[in-house]
Amino acid sequence: MAIMCIFFFLVASSITTTAHGQQRLSHKFYSRSCPGVQHLVRATVEEALRGDPTLGASILRLFFHDCFVNGCDASVLLDDTPFFIGEKNAPPNMNSLRGFQVIDAIKARVEPRCRGTVSCADILALAARDSVALLGGPYWAVYVGRRDARTTSRQAATANLPAPGASFSDLATSFAAKRLSPRDLIALSGAHTIGQAHCSSFRTHIYGESNVDASFAGALRQTCPPVQGIGNSHLAPLDVQSPVVFDNKYYQNLVARRGLLHSDQELLGGGWFADSVVWRYSVNQTAFFSDFAASMIKMGNISPLTGNRGEVRLNCRKWN
Ligand code: HEM
Ligand SMILES: *[C@@H]1O[C@H](CO)[C@@H](O)[C@H](O)[C@H]1NC(C)=O
Repeated sequence: MAIMCIFFFLVASSITTTAHGQQRLSHKFYSRSCPGVQHLVRATVEEALRGDPTLGASILRLFFHDCFVNGCDASVLLDDTPFFIGEKNAPPNMNSLRGFQVIDAIKARVEPRCRGTVSCADILALAARDSVALLGGPYWAVYVGRRDARTTSRQAATANLPAPGASFSDLATSFAAKRLSPRDLIALSGAHTIGQAHCSSFRTHIYGESNVDASFAGALRQTCPPVQGIGNSHLAPLDVQSPVVFDNKYYQNLVARRGLLHSDQELLGGGWFADSVVWRYSVNQTAFFSDFAASMIKMGNISPLTGNRGEVRLNCRKWN
């Protein structure tokens, strides 16, 4: 009995604090302070996607771009001001990130019920999960308890976010810098089963490269002209088969050399391990879904602010 008690104590205490006394995220962080938050997030995302299902992809991408720059701390949501340079106009984000109004709408619903309690970083983590689930993807329990950053750096956004022209080894290096494995890289890239990219992101791939299906490239050339700077804003779906359904068709596209971005197609031919993971996901959606959920939880754990570090913003666009 005594041994059981000690065992239980160790397990229970390891859930909330690490060896450094730093608090960890937990599933229950708001269960007393804001029990309705998960429902409010879900209902607001559902409403937004009913109006425009393409917003789901944009919200999922916001979470990725938040977590890869100084951790999941809602830094990506801070607006530029004459006195503050945020991440929104860093090259990987400018004229490309969208969906901020959905996060604002969630925050506006949560604040009157739970004043100054739920961080923007957690709202983003929950909204990303709900977007995936509502579009047909997996569902997972989100760890919460993150706090919001009071600052950020445009330079960090430019340096940390992988570019569409990246090679497999560049991608693996940039994920390894966040303690994410090649398997995490391949599973998380499956986010490109939803959403769209601008011509400027895939032009080089469809004109200059050989590792792309000819008829696929030919069709894309209709929307994306070859001249730098012309038609940059034209969009194409990242998953040509089912752009607003979260499924495993992204990997089937890769096998058919129909990845939209150079970085997508790089996952195949990245060595025997990467190839075997792509092939497995392409034939087994269950395997993709469970790995994707696990990797999203890992990504969501990238250096969160906890305890009394950072703050809980009242408005996600600016610090208090
Ligand atoms: C592996 C490295 C990655 C690269 C190089 C990359 C690059 C890109 C690029 C260039 C776009 C199109 C941007 C535009 O043209 O406007 C895009 C879109 C997108 N990315 Fe990634 N990405 C990567 C990983 C991820 C991850 C890990 C996630 C989420 C877990 C993600 C989610 C998305 C989504 C959902 C979109 C569509 C956004 C929309 O339709 O608004 N990406 N990505
Ligand atoms: C698909 O993957 C799941 C999860 O890894 C596994 O349990 C299942 O056996 C796989 N199915 C097939 C047909 O290989």
